Amino acid sequence: MARQPHFLSINDYSPKQIKQLLDIADEMKQHPKRFNKSLKGQVLAMIFEKSSTRTRMSFETGMYQLGGIAQFLSSRDIQIGRGEPIYDTARVMSRFVQGIMARTFAHQTVTDLAKYGSIPVINGLTDLEHPCQIMADLQTVREHFGKLSGLKLTYIGDGNNMAHSYMQGTGKTGMDCTIITPKDVKYSCNAAIVEAALEDHAAQGTTLTITDNVMEGVAGSHVVATDTWVSMGMEEEKAERIAAFKGFTVDNAVMEAAGKDAIFIHCLPAYRGYEVLEEVIDGPRSLIYDEAENRLHAQKAIMYSLMAK
Ligand code: CP
Ligand code: NVA
Repeated sequence: MARQPHFLSINDYSPKQIKQLLDIADEMKQHPKRFNKSLKGQVLAMIFEKSSTRTRMSFETGMYQLGGIAQFLSSRDIQIGRGEPIYDTARVMSRFVQGIMARTFAHQTVTDLAKYGSIPVINGLTDLEHPCQIMADLQTVREHFGKLSGLKLTYIGDGNNMAHSYMQGTGKTGMDCTIITPKDVKYSCNAAIVEAALEDHAAQGTTLTITDNVMEGVAGSHVVATDTWVSMGMEEEKAERIAAFKGFTVDNAVMEAAGKDAIFIHCLPAYRGYEVLEEVIDGPRSLIYDEAENRLHAQKAIMYSLMAK
């Protein structure tokens, strides 16, 4: 199978390639020692324009476990923060290291790193997409149900990077997807991403539904997901957003409406009392810590598939 040069968007990958990554992630989890020299001597540069716990830890720990090392480069400390062009940064980094993982505001920053550099680039979250997280989420859901095809995933909340990556990820894995966002278009998903995801869903015979009706939309779900109402960079809108998302909290009533076997996932960090109540996120249906752990295995699978010789 043709190897992808980068991991920037789920959209760039075929259903077969996504499945292959998930299979490697499972193998990484079950037999980590098999891979402990696979990136021996390699270095991953990690550019962070935003905060991170899980993403930094999964890539840094993952590189170490694969036999390489990772460099943490806060954009505040490197010259990007002072205006050095992305094309110079990408070309220089390509002379030092074997891969770049970047967490940025603008999606174009990661696509430009890929365009101008000559090494694999991994999207560690942009304002538009969070593809690494979705790989861990799909791994978690598949572990729990033993399959993905035929399941329904419902996302409730902001039409943000997580919503986009969920509609893309389900569109590659035979899952139906419902996205529930408020009526106000400010909180809706990106139209171009929705259009592309609709095509993927149509091609695999699944549905992508977008609604503002929580109780109707969530019915019959196997997986209920949510995310913060105030993503990184939107802190100034906090009060306005909390008001706009009234009625979109995932509570026990929402989980009941989903169905008796429905599980709950959240990429974290979570804000209990806002997008989800403790009764759900700290309850028996919540798989948040398995999901967080799977960031490590899924991210190792991505690095392995891009960087192993
Ligand atoms: N879910 C996630 O990306 O977490 P961090 O922001 O802690 O990396
Ligand atoms: N939507 C959130 C995800 C955090 C992992 C954000 O962009 O801040």
